[in-house]
Amino acid sequence: MVSVDAKQAAPAAGGKGLMLGSWAQRHLNLCFVAGFLLVLLTYLVVSQQFAVTSPVAVPTTTTHRKHQAVKSPGAGEAGVGLTQGDRGGEGKAEAKSAQEQQHEQQPAGPPKAEGRARGVGKRDDDGAAKPFDNGKVVCRASPFSYTCDVFGDVRTNGTAHTVTLVPVTSRTERREWSIQAYARFNMTGIPNVTVTQLDSTSVASPAPACTVTHRVPAIVLALGGHLGNYFHDFSDALVPLFVASRRYGGEVQLLAGNIQPWWLGKYEAVVRRLTKYEVLDLDHDDQIRCFRHVTVGLNMHKEFNIVPELVPGGVPLSMLNFTAFLRETYSLPRAAPISLTNNKSSPPVDDNKNKKPRLMLLDRGHYRKLVNVPEIVKAAEKAGFEVTIADPRFNVRVKELALSVNSFDVLLGVHGAGLTNSAFLPPGAVVIQVVPYGKLEPMAQREFGDPAANMGLRYLEYSISVEESTLLETLGPDHPAIKDPDSVHRSGWDKVAEYYLGKQNVRVDVERFAPTLALALDHLRRH
Ligand SMILES: *[C@@H]1O[C@H](CO)[C@@H](O)[C@H](O)[C@H]1NC(C)=O
Ligand SMILES: *[C@@H]1O[C@H](CO)[C@@H](O)[C@H](O)[C@H]1NC(C)=O
Ligand SMILES: *[C@@H]1O[C@H](CO)[C@@H](O)[C@H](O)[C@H]1NC(C)=O
Ligand SMILES: *[C@@H]1O[C@H](CO)[C@@H](O)[C@H](O)[C@H]1NC(C)=O
Ligand SMILES: *[C@@H]1O[C@H](CO)[C@@H](O)[C@H](O)[C@H]1NC(C)=O
Repeated sequence: MVSVDAKQAAPAAGGKGLMLGSWAQRHLNLCFVAGFLLVLLTYLVVSQQFAVTSPVAVPTTTTHRKHQAVKSPGAGEAGVGLTQGDRGGEGKAEAKSAQEQQHEQQPAGPPKAEGRARGVGKRDDDGAAKPFDNGKVVCRASPFSYTCDVFGDVRTNGTAHTVTLVPVTSRTERREWSIQAYARFNMTGIPNVTVTQLDSTSVASPAPACTVTHRVPAIVLALGGHLGNYFHDFSDALVPLFVASRRYGGEVQLLAGNIQPWWLGKYEAVVRRLTKYEVLDLDHDDQIRCFRHVTVGLNMHKEFNIVPELVPGGVPLSMLNFTAFLRETYSLPRAAPISLTNNKSSPPVDDNKNKKPRLMLLDRGHYRKLVNVPEIVKAAEKAGFEVTIADPRFNVRVKELALSVNSFDVLLGVHGAGLTNSAFLPPGAVVIQVVPYGKLEPMAQREFGDPAANMGLRYLEYSISVEESTLLETLGPDHPAIKDPDSVHRSGWDKVAEYYLGKQNVRVDVERFAPTLALALDHLRRH
């Protein structure tokens, strides 16, 4: 399926290894999060105390390139996931650290020379900091990543991977954060971006002057990582980017680290509708760019999903907005599935051929294959569907794929990246996820079930029995992976991935499956 056909793409991950490696890492990361946040909390307590006694925590001789561990990710704000976005400095809902409050109470000083030279005259549309105030840095930890919003006189040096807030008045404290601009923690091959709030000493020896001044805000993001896997393309990048940028109506500058021209090419239509400007290659950008607001990093709320309350900017977005956006982007004609009448008193439909609901059967080319596709096709046809077998390849043009998927009423497939195509289904259509053996239901629900529901789709899950798994034949009934899936889960996600995702194919028992098909049809009738 699309998921694993990433051979020519993702450079850090060779072919088959990608799916398993990335998958395992993804889940391992989740395990780390809890512990990590605990450490973070401890750190914050310590750092707060430290800050009180030592306002200049870091020597300022080296202004840039201080790639340190996260020092105080949003001191006092880490975990405040529910910030209502960037409605300016005033009346913000989130908790503020003592220092920040103190700073905001200080009158803004006269504009500095370098501030004036920038010719900043007007607030950004997103209501960022007032001209010439001290600005501020708001960093947050989400379950998956860090993001920092920097308001004020913000300057980027791409080659140095720095985003620097230049305060106007003195008596600010130097603070620094080092984060990856990717939507998941700890991706290999993605350089950290250092966000620095300069202190008064730095004001005396000014930051490098702007070479380019932008009137629009910027978003610093990182590509690479798990991209190349179709699911991650959406979950880690397209959805978070949509969330971060939609409110700007195209008036936003993207700065992409670890730039992947193939990826930007593949999703060009989407990116072009999110920004009117060329995406800049952060790693090779030797300009000092000045902005009034820079968001560093993408925030994934949940896997392939949007939590409207977490969308910045006060304009809530949902997955319905995301899929509506995709339909506009790719000119997808259908915003509703076939309308089937269940009305006994209406005349029978004579033109039966055109009135059948269409089912797309995803036939993965690799592991987690359906081994009895013809039988499933027959069953689905018997249930009343017109069936098309699809095996989209990695290099398929997204627009063609989107148009094709949009013409269907039901998407049926084994757990895997191909189900990401549900984003192109018309709302009201049905997604049937076949969940392989091995207690994978929670993951299946998280990655495709919940997103499908939030996209206004009817989600049906078909969990196979052990008899429908090829693992029963290949491992034998006495293997722990058959007898005791819990023990496999206890031994770590690597094993889960190896057995249940990597070595398993599915032979659907069409008798057992028939009620699921009937439910799908029923839903389309009632829709
Ligand atoms: C940007 O950072 C690089 C790397 O640290 C440095 O060599 C360069 O001088 C900086 N650019 C400017 C204009 O200061
Ligand atoms: C890079 O940022 C991550 C947080 O995203 C942090 O955990 C890590 O320590 C940083 N690495 C470096 C070398 O600063
Ligand atoms: C990221 O990596 C760093 C260093 O390897 C580690 O300390 C940290 O716990 C990791 N964070 C997460 C969320 O996995
Ligand atoms: C999001 O979708 C809802 C309907 O689902 C709509 O009312 C709202 O205007 C949309 N928001 C944006 C910003 O498009
Ligand atoms: C059923 O069809 C009849 C005739 O076409 C129509 O008058 C009636 O309103 C329909 N009932 C429903 C529930 O759609």
